[in-house]
Formats: sequence, structure tokens, C-alpha cells
Amino acid sequence: MDLELDGTRVLVTGASRGIGLAIVQAFQGEGAEVIAVSRRTTPELEATGATFVPADLAEPDGPRRMVEKVLELDPRLDAVVNNAGGGTASAEMLADPFGGTAATWASALALNLVAAVETTRAALPALVRSRGAVVNISSRNARDPRGAPLSYSAAKAALNAFSRGLAEQVAESGVRVNVVTPSGTHTPMLTGEDGFGAELATHLGLDHETLLAVLPKEAGMLTSALIDPAEIARAVLLLASPTMPSAIGSNWTVDGGSLKVA
Ligand SMILES: NC(=O)c1ccc[n+]([C@@H]2O[C@H](COP(=O)([O-])OP(=O)(O)OC[C@H]3O[C@@H](n4cnc5c(N)ncnc54)[C@H](OP(=O)(O)O)[C@@H]3O)[C@@H](O)[C@H]2O)c1
Repeated sequence: MDLELDGTRVLVTGASRGIGLAIVQAFQGEGAEVIAVSRRTTPELEATGATFVPADLAEPDGPRRMVEKVLELDPRLDAVVNNAGGGTASAEMLADPFGGTAATWASALALNLVAAVETTRAALPALVRSRGAVVNISSRNARDPRGAPLSYSAAKAALNAFSRGLAEQVAESGVRVNVVTPSGTHTPMLTGEDGFGAELATHLGLDHETLLAVLPKEAGMLTSALIDPAEIARAVLLLASPTMPSAIGSNWTVDGGSLKVA
């Protein structure tokens, strides 16, 4: 299947590991040139040969400065994938019914919502020129906030609303905005020693390995297995592809059936 992504130029945030790294590799497999953004690079990202632009997207001016740098290198841009997100969940956040303090909320919103808003704002003129696509990575917790700090779930719910609304605003200019909603995916966010999964295990009094084994079933995943990041990347490719002009304002779940809604 030709997705007509060969020769396109694509910006992927949160690209150094996990879902973002799989998205980089998937676009490269289709012949796209990828600009990869995260705070630090990794040997796995370096091995892809993608152009690395370091940026802290949770900083107020981080997204705008990053996009400027990307467009200075080459003004062409066909797709933006706002994947950077997550963050950690301290014991205090998990124990607090409000999902953390005001400062915690500000940082969850900065990374999981505002970074995508400001990256897209800065990239929009270039995307209008190419009649390009935006794909935002949300989470099942946007629609079922249990099992994650409320600040994270609420930020992802706001990302869904932003994406749907922006799709309406920019459709006439030829830019398509869509969302992919994963559930538990096999990435360092869940498997890493300092990630959310490890913190959740401590909070629940489980060892990390046990948590990873029971998490899919507990999250209602009918597959009983964490998702391969390559699966999320495949959905992103389709939504970014010019062969899918009718995919606008959609939210595709790749969640093992964990969201129990029709
Ligand atoms: N894994 C899951 O189960 C799951 C489920 C639902 C949704 N998601 C969503 O999927 C996306 C990717 O998650 P993942 O599991 O792949 O996470 P991950 O393994 O923790 O990777 C996160 C990526 O984002 C980058 N990043 C973090 N903070 C950043 C910042 N301030 N500025 C720029 N880049 C930053 C990280 O690199 P640096 O640390 O070097 O910056 C890394 O490349 C996130 O939006 C997450 O909310 C994940």
C-alpha cells in the first residue's frame, strides 16, 4: 500500500524512545525525512539517522523556538506528530484525589496539552502551504480517568477537545487534525525504572514486574498484553497520509478494547 509519504518532511516530538521512536522508524520506512525532537537523544534514535533537534517542550517558549529551528533547516513540513507527553507520577500525585498540587497540574498541562497547542500554532503556516496533517497522541485516560493522576487524564482530555476543535478551524486550509488514543503500551513510560509504571507499582505495593503483568487485564485490555509501539505508529502513518483526506477530526483508539464504549 502506497501511503504517499515518500519524500515528505515530518516532525515527531518525544522521539527518543517508546511510541515516538516507533513513529520515527515507521515514517522512515515510508521514505519520509524525519525531524526528531526530545530533550535528549538516545543511541536508538541516533541509529535511525533522523535529524535531531533538542528542545524542552514544557518550557513556555520551547515549542515555538523548536519549530523555528526546524523550519530554518528547511521550510518544508508535511506532518507534525505531537507525541511528547506523559511525565512521572509521584507518590504524592497518586495519593492525592486531585492528582497533585497546582504546580503539578501546571507541568502536566504544559507537557500534555500546551506543548501540542504551541507546536501546532508555530507549524501551521508551513502545514497550510503543504496541505499537511497533525496527529496528536492522547491516552485512554482522557476518556476513562481512572488509573492515572487526574492532572494527566484531564490534560489529555483537553488535548482531545483542542484537536477536534482545531480540525474544524483549519479544515478549509487543507490541514487535517486527528488523534490516536493508545492504552497501555510497551514503552519506557511503563517499563522504565523511573517511569510511571514503576511509580504506580510502588503506590500499589506491587513489584514492577507484577504490575506490568496484571496491568493490561486491569485496564480492560481484551488482548491481556501491552501494545507494541509499532501498532500506534501504524495508525499515525495512516492519519498523516494524504491518501486519507476524509480522516479529519477523528480520534482512533488503539487500546486493546480497553475503552468500554460503543
Ligand atoms: N506508554 C503508554 O502506555 C501510553 C498510553 C497512552 C498514551 N501514551 C502517550 O504516548 C506518548 C508517548 O508515550 P511513551 O510511552 O512513548 O513515553 P516515554 O517512553 O516516556 O517517552 C516520552 C518521550 O517524550 C520526550 N519528552 C518528555 N518530556 C519532554 C519535554 N519536556 N520536552 C520534549 N520532549 C519530552 C522523552 O524524551 P526526553 O525525556 O529526552 O525529553 C521521550 O522521547 C505520550 O504522549 C503518552 O502520554 C502512552
